[in-house]
Amino acid sequence: MLCQLTRFPSLLAYSNPHPWAMAMALSKDAMDLLQAQVELWNQTFSFMKSVALAVALDLRIANAICHHGGAATLSQIIAEIGISPCKLHGLRRLMRVLTVAGTFTIQPPEASSSEEHEPVYKLTAISFLVMSNNDDDGESSASLSPMLNHVLSPFHDSQLSMGLAAWFRHEDPAKSPYTLMRGRNVWEMCESSDAANASINNAMAADSRFLMKVVLKECGEIFHGIDSLVDVGGGVGSAATAIAAAFPNLKCSVLDLPHVVAKAPSVSNVRFLAGDMFESIPPANAILLKQCLHVARVARYGVQIIDQTTFFHLILSFFSEPIIIYNFGC
Ligand SMILES: C[S@@+](CC[C@H](N)C(=O)[O-])C[C@H]1O[C@@H](n2cnc3c(N)ncnc32)[C@H](O)[C@@H]1O
Repeated sequence: MLCQLTRFPSLLAYSNPHPWAMAMALSKDAMDLLQAQVELWNQTFSFMKSVALAVALDLRIANAICHHGGAATLSQIIAEIGISPCKLHGLRRLMRVLTVAGTFTIQPPEASSSEEHEPVYKLTAISFLVMSNNDDDGESSASLSPMLNHVLSPFHDSQLSMGLAAWFRHEDPAKSPYTLMRGRNVWEMCESSDAANASINNAMAADSRFLMKVVLKECGEIFHGIDSLVDVGGGVGSAATAIAAAFPNLKCSVLDLPHVVAKAPSVSNVRFLAGDMFESIPPANAILLKQCLHVARVARYGVQIIDQTTFFHLILSFFSEPIIIYNFGC
């Protein structure tokens, strides 16, 4: 029988307080460190609020909700804007950013209703200011959309916005924004560009060094009792190196694409394997997936071939013995 244990909550839900702090008893030092990381990510991605507003203006989402009587579900917004229903998940994410920012609000579900309903988005005072003018509104309009369009123009279809507005209008359900904009997915980009490969590998290695220090100090016991571990999509091996140093008897391997493994430093007790996680994963007691579930979503040529559940099933199909899956991050 196969068994799957996911021992951690997602680490990188950039919430406040940090989800780990809520889920586990962490030392104050670790909590401060993780909270600092959350703050840093909030700063790093604060431009996404501007991107989301630029896309909302471009798609005329406020006008669409207004046209629908001032309240609309995602499918109704999609129909009003005239984009493909395959963009529903993308629109949900965009609306999440915009409702947190206050551009729109979600109608509270009726207290008496026990059924789960699609969220209904409503206009706010901000929505009225971002609504695009009708041609005949002339001087009477109080909309700030011309000003906002001007100020936000650097975000329109730039690398910063990953061409999101164009992506929303694109019919192909499978292509990610990145792939649509650049013609290939991020891993193909790394394969053909040493600079891109080095940049991502170094970035991920830094993240792993940071995180594994906390993991090993605060809850290293989760690795007790296993003999072998494969870090799937393990990059240049920083997580596996840290685990192997803390548990010298644990046989650690890293599986990643050939152009990544080629750049991995040699580490005496970590084995590097070049391969494709969708084709096979070498046998082990446990696998580590750190920041890898999204890889499944943009697998191969930027085409979404697989959702998370299917991905877990695929992983488990490579094993004939029970395994532990440690999942860190998205
Ligand atoms: C976001 S990085 C995470 C790296 C590492 N797990 C970490 O957290 O530091 C995703 C990794 O998955 C690798 N990857 C992408 N597609 C893969 C595939 N089909 N098979 C194996 N590795 C893959 C990438 O090369 C990259 O190193």
